[in-house]
Amino acid sequence: MCGIVGYTGNRKAGPVLIEGLKKLEYRGYDSAGVALHDNGRLIVTKAAGSVAELEKSLNEHHKEVTAGIGHTRWATHGPPTDLNAHPHSSASGEIVVVHNGIIENYRTLRKRLTEEAGFKFKSETDSEVLAHLIEYCYEGDLLAAVRRAMSEIEGSYALVAASSREPDRLVCARKDSPLIIGYGEGENYVASDIPALLAHTRRTCVMDDGEFAVLTPEKIEIYNKDGQMLDKDILEITWNLEAAEKGGYDHFMLKEIMEQPAAVRETLRQRIKRDSGLVELGELDLTTEQILKLDQIYIIACGTAYHAGLIGKMAIEKLAGIPVEVDVASEFRYRDPLLEPNQLAIVISQSGETADTLAGLRMAHTKGLKVLAITNVVGSTVSREADRVMYTWAGPEIAVASTKAYVTQLVALYLVAIYLGQTRGTLEPEKAGALVDGLLALPEQLTQVLSEDNIATIRAYCEHLSRWDNAFFIGRNLDYPVAMEGALKLKEISYIHAEACAAGELKHGPLALVEEGMPVIALATQEAILDKTLSNIQVVNARGGAVFAVTREDFEDVSWQVESIFSLPVVCDTLAPVLGVVPTQLIAYYAAVARGCSVDKPRNLAKSVTVE
Ligand code: F6R
Repeated sequence: MCGIVGYTGNRKAGPVLIEGLKKLEYRGYDSAGVALHDNGRLIVTKAAGSVAELEKSLNEHHKEVTAGIGHTRWATHGPPTDLNAHPHSSASGEIVVVHNGIIENYRTLRKRLTEEAGFKFKSETDSEVLAHLIEYCYEGDLLAAVRRAMSEIEGSYALVAASSREPDRLVCARKDSPLIIGYGEGENYVASDIPALLAHTRRTCVMDDGEFAVLTPEKIEIYNKDGQMLDKDILEITWNLEAAEKGGYDHFMLKEIMEQPAAVRETLRQRIKRDSGLVELGELDLTTEQILKLDQIYIIACGTAYHAGLIGKMAIEKLAGIPVEVDVASEFRYRDPLLEPNQLAIVISQSGETADTLAGLRMAHTKGLKVLAITNVVGSTVSREADRVMYTWAGPEIAVASTKAYVTQLVALYLVAIYLGQTRGTLEPEKAGALVDGLLALPEQLTQVLSEDNIATIRAYCEHLSRWDNAFFIGRNLDYPVAMEGALKLKEISYIHAEACAAGELKHGPLALVEEGMPVIALATQEAILDKTLSNIQVVNARGGAVFAVTREDFEDVSWQVESIFSLPVVCDTLAPVLGVVPTQLIAYYAAVARGCSVDKPRNLAKSVTVE
């Protein structure tokens, strides 16, 4: 997804912008560019391809200037070409902009600006219209021009603009797309994400929707939509840059898989009362009466977060006795769900910026529902728009494929389910205690799951799997959503087509695809229905499928029925997904490595999906 960096100060802006853009590469992009203030001119250098290539093509002289803006683009309107890359310039070249988001009324504006002002457009993007519109509104003050231009915009934007007539001055605007200001000494920064700022400053301020900011080397001024200057809080970033780097692993994804024990520990921290062993979720901020009255919960999310929601549904229904519907966010909005004000919506989003999830959140709000956000990113749009926020505290997740964020989302959902069950009296104290003990044991058990021996087992199976173009993931009950997550991860990073199938459904059609040697990953962690899963595995065996079973170490019957086995420590059925998903993540990872795929940045995908 697109990234923005802006700098104004006393150092060479070129290298600052390039380094900042490199820190945002993890977001996924297909072209990059910078615009630098140079003696009353704005010099734009941009091209399809990588930031490293952009760096090579930057003219040495232009690297000396001390203010500029940079961008990495992930194509939406128009293919990834040099012309479609940002920054975009106005007709005269006096205004340049970088933009994240979507301008919904760009066609109307483009027509008007062409007819009224005779402006000629060079790109196919929606963003270019911003540069022309700001020029059209410009009467000697860039802030005033940006304000006037934004009042005509329908859509979302994180925007940074510069005018050749106002050297050293950057003007920023935000609506529905993140933008963060960084405070320096005699220099100031703006970026769409914190990693781009961390090498320079930890003092930041997250812009809110409708706000404008003006940056010069000496000062930062932030205004609300009515033009009043604001005195905003400074957010001190406590995590360091190393946390966002690979830490010795070949890929961010593997590093993040290995971080799961620590991440789960963080999610649990301070949410279990030491004395009583009960779950304590102050952040839910619901009275007992409100919890007792809850008669329906909607969970809204996309992709991996949606898969976490499916497990959350089963846990909440079982432990708290509240009916739960889980919706893919992009469908939720268009199916007219029967929303009532006494219901609760839970939105799950690692990034907290996913456009569809955000739209679901807003729809729930318009119908009067309280919204709880489960997210990993502090200050994200989802976290700021929800009524209540439960952070997963997984630390920055850089690989496009979500791993530790998913596992911590599961743990957060279990905490919610137990808390609601405790409060409603549907969960007996002994059972709640056993589940809490189970949760507290997870970090240690995850460490066991990630042992070298286990990884060797996975690598051996992946030698076989990586030669196939199709695979099945099967499972029953809570293992089924884990199978869905395993299949998504495998196709996402190894490009092997993978399908998840409820194990009992195989015989109703998908079994026709099973042939000699076909990889079938069977999740068999649910004690209550183990026999049923075993019969489904036998059906695959009988057709020659190469079954890799993920099961519990004490389920002895499984081992003699399958080709490869991955044994998990003993865990109750309810919590088993937290352990069971890990071998599926490793399978995806090692299959992708064996196939020489770009693990951390799979083709066509982006980390933060801020378009619908
Ligand atoms: C897959 C993956 C995606 C995200 C989805 C939602 O590995 O990461 O499916 O889960 O794009 O993103 P968030 O959680 O940021 O809303």
